[in-house]
Amino acid sequence: MNILEIIEKKTKGKELSKEEIEYFVEGYTNGEVADYQAAALIMAIFIKGMSDQETTDLTLAMANSGDILDLSVLGGIIVDKHSTGGVGDKVSLVLLPIISSLGVKVAKMSGRGLGFTGGTIDKLEAIPGYRTGITEEEFIKNVQEVGISIISQTKNLAPADKKIYELRDTISCVESIPLIASSIMSKKIASGAQKIMLEVTYGNGAFMKNIEDAKKLAEQMVRIGELANRETKYILTNMNEPLGYSIGNSLEIIETAQFLKGEVLAEDLKHVVLELGANMLKLAGLGDNIEENKSKMMENIKNGKAYQKFLQMVERQGGDISYIEDVEKFGKTKYMEDMVSPIDGTIKEIPAITIAKYVCSLGAGRIKKDDVIDMQVGIVLHKKVGDTVKKGEKIFTVYSNKPIEMPTNAVVF
Ligand code: URA
Repeated sequence: MNILEIIEKKTKGKELSKEEIEYFVEGYTNGEVADYQAAALIMAIFIKGMSDQETTDLTLAMANSGDILDLSVLGGIIVDKHSTGGVGDKVSLVLLPIISSLGVKVAKMSGRGLGFTGGTIDKLEAIPGYRTGITEEEFIKNVQEVGISIISQTKNLAPADKKIYELRDTISCVESIPLIASSIMSKKIASGAQKIMLEVTYGNGAFMKNIEDAKKLAEQMVRIGELANRETKYILTNMNEPLGYSIGNSLEIIETAQFLKGEVLAEDLKHVVLELGANMLKLAGLGDNIEENKSKMMENIKNGKAYQKFLQMVERQGGDISYIEDVEKFGKTKYMEDMVSPIDGTIKEIPAITIAKYVCSLGAGRIKKDDVIDMQVGIVLHKKVGDTVKKGEKIFTVYSNKPIEMPTNAVVF
């Protein structure tokens, strides 16, 4: 077997065998297959696609390229959650303490943001002291003792995916259903979950621009899950406007604290959190009735148990909980400016992609991998799509540490 034959076969649109896929994944991970050869094969896959069997073989080969976490010591059914990414997406931060407070063990490895997308790990690092890079042993101990731990993906988890994903990013081959599906599912399988709950996003702020493609991606991941013996469910989420009210790292931690205290519950965020959580409780065997599960979740927000769980998690990971208890401690940026409505009207669009790129330009995200993030900057929305506004009323506030140039086309009436 050699890589040139494998590239040629895929270029002709033929199906690759399990052995050929494993040969490529192993060879690329250990450096025997060169970047330009991997790029040629990935481009051929991008153009010609992959069958379900090939996609599953690619997923398993990438999952097996590093450690497979064994979570069996935790007992019970471990349910993992993954989102295909969004803008203002603080779902994991809000959802996971709620379901942990209801008895689901949460052992979650999350990612950082790259480009205009946000990442849960960057948001957690906005809390002074929070350690995202703990060892696997400490991670498991925290889940055993507190019921929840959220950390960054360890280095040796699906290293083949890491390498292939970075390559895809540089050759414009990200938006491919088999490549995205195998990338996500390889990490989920390697991180040890028995059941997987997916949030697949669509719209201008997501990889999948329309609901049909999002559904195809979701169903592909469900089929991989079935073939890999991991029950997988999904919901589809609209990512045409940012999720919730805030976009930016510490601003999203503030919204998380307010949500868990029951103070500010953005309807779109609440909808996604309840749908995902109710299904996760069902997957974990803690209740088959979705509506009842949602009520249990709301109850644990009202009685403070979900908020207490968030505090316990933050404290255990070394985070300073006084910032969560008094969010004013996050401080104010040097500059703040309101976008006010020029007319009386109804808001038709707040394009997620426009807001995301703007917030990234303020310093909230990374364009290159080693860019340093400004945790404080971002936008807080006062209005959402469908809301009416009066002339002069505030639509959003920009928080920045450099002089502000207001974004254009961020609101459509
Ligand atoms: N998220 C991933 O982990 N991989 C992709 O390919 C796209 C989104």
